Order: sequence, then structure tokens, then C-alpha cells
Amino acid sequence: MRRFEVRPYRKSKFPNGYDGTRMKASVSRPLVFEPEKFAYDPELSPLFLDRKVQGVRREVQERLLVCELDRYADFTKDLEDGPVRDGCILAASEDMLPFEMSGTIRQDARQILDDEIIHGDEAVRLMDQLHRWNDLPAIDFPSHEFMRAVGRLRDAEEEPILKKVVSLIAAAVTETLITVNLRKLPMSTTTVHPAVTEYVARHAHDERFHNAVFREVFKRTWSWLSRSRWKHEIPRIAKMIAEMLVSYLSPDREAYTRILNEFPDEFPNPDEIIDDVLRHAFVKERIRDSSASTVRMLRECDIFEDDEVMRVFGQSGLL
Ligand SMILES: [Fe+2]
Ligand SMILES: [Fe+2]
Repeated sequence: MRRFEVRPYRKSKFPNGYDGTRMKASVSRPLVFEPEKFAYDPELSPLFLDRKVQGVRREVQERLLVCELDRYADFTKDLEDGPVRDGCILAASEDMLPFEMSGTIRQDARQILDDEIIHGDEAVRLMDQLHRWNDLPAIDFPSHEFMRAVGRLRDAEEEPILKKVVSLIAAAVTETLITVNLRKLPMSTTTVHPAVTEYVARHAHDERFHNAVFREVFKRTWSWLSRSRWKHEIPRIAKMIAEMLVSYLSPDREAYTRILNEFPDEFPNPDEIIDDVLRHAFVKERIRDSSASTVRMLRECDIFEDDEVMRVFGQSGLL
């Protein structure tokens, strides 16, 4: 495949950045895809855990990796435009919540919202350039299971304030998991495209700050809930967090079905492959390992003092 360069990312509206360095270093760098970049690594795609996928010819594996990057960027865009944006708007508001977020958090949340708009744009641009570079049609990915779970859980709440609590929790879960996921991606410059390493490095840089802010948002939300007249709902809401974590971190069946359906000759039974992947010890260990930082945040809020909550998290493979 040929080398491909495109115009730089657009500049941030706040070029000096909240912490003085955000986005500055990268705005004039081009997006670059290079030939012969290939990593056969289940950290990049869990599909590589399956023997049938391991056995197909290299050209198909390369195309699977391109589809995987497409899926990753699509999921990121949906997170930024959905739960993250909703959580930022709530945390930044002065009158949408019945508890104090503090002026600093509100200001931070507004700054994060600006970051996330840029991250969403960058994800769209990465997908767009990926398709142009590969001449591959865009896969119309369905909504990720995490997005569907958050929507379901929020819709199921009757009290408007509990809908907002679900939104704040979903944003805190997302913001703590994104940071871990970005850190885990193998970023060897010999096997990963510069377009990807730069995209990931920029995103990871901003997310370290977001992670710290949303841990505080979660603690304040949980502390208010513990003092509110809805405190009896705490075990139920805590179990909901387990559902969010698992749906976020599990390989998304619908997305991987769409990817494998791109190769009907090689993979006539996508469900078999996806079942194998979902059962794999690597995937189970990755879910536990990736959720550890978020679980630590929950532990600091004494969520596991309830035996039933502890049991649900254990059964979900999160402890
Ligand atoms: Fe982001
Ligand atoms: Fe973020």
C-alpha cells in the first residue's frame, strides 16, 4: 500500500490548552499511513486470538486490522459525541444538578467538552483518511453495546435526577476506561502507522487530565447519592456500573460480525469466531485488568461494602 499524507489536524479553539501543552505539539503534523506496517497482536484486535483468523493469508489479516482501526475510531467518536459530552454538560452546568460540583470542576468540564469535540473530529478524520488510503468502503457499524446499555439504563430510570446520575456515571466510566485503553495499545513505530501513534498519543495526553477530573465528578456524585433520599438505590445503581464496564470492555459482537462479514469466503461463520474470542482467557483477563483503575475509584467510594454488589462484580469478572 502507498504512503499517504493529508493536511494537518485543525487547530484547537484554545491553542494554549488548559494545561499549557494540550494539542499544541501536534497541530501542524500530517496524518501518515505507511506501507508494510502490521502488528499481529491481540491487543490491537482480539480477532487474532482465534485460530481461523490466525490461519488466513496475510492480506486478509491486514484488512482485518484496517477494519479494527475503523471500528475503534467509530466507537471513540460515538463515546465523545454521546456519554462523554452528556457528562461534561451536566458537570459544567450551574443549575442542572442538586449538588455542588465546585467552580473548578465546572470550568474543567467545559474545557474537557472542548477537547472531546476535537477528539471526535479527529476520529472521524482518521476513519475518512483510512478509507481513502485503503480504498475500502466504510463499514456501517451498529451502535456499540455500551452505548445501548447506557441508553437502556438511563431510559429505565423514572426520576429525572437519577437519569442525570446515570449520565454522570457513564461519563466517569468512559473517561476512566479510555485512559487505560489508550495506554494499553501497542505503539511500536515499526508496526503501527504514524497516523495512529500520533492520534493515540494526542488523545492519551488529554485523557490523563480528563481521568482525574471525572474521578472527582464520580466521587461527588456518589457522595451526594449516599446522602440523598435515593440512597436505598445505591446497590442497584452500583450493579448498573458493572453492566457498563462489561459492555464497554467486551469485544462487541455486532461490530465484529460486520467486520467478519466483509470476508465471507474466509469466515463463513462469524458467530463461531466471536464465541471463541469472547471465551478466551486473554479477553477475560483484559476486562479485569482494564477495569482495575475504575474499580479502584469505586472501592474508594465504599461501593463494595454491599455484599450483593461485590458478588455481581465478582461474577462479572471485574474483581
Ligand atoms: Fe476524548
Ligand atoms: Fe476525555
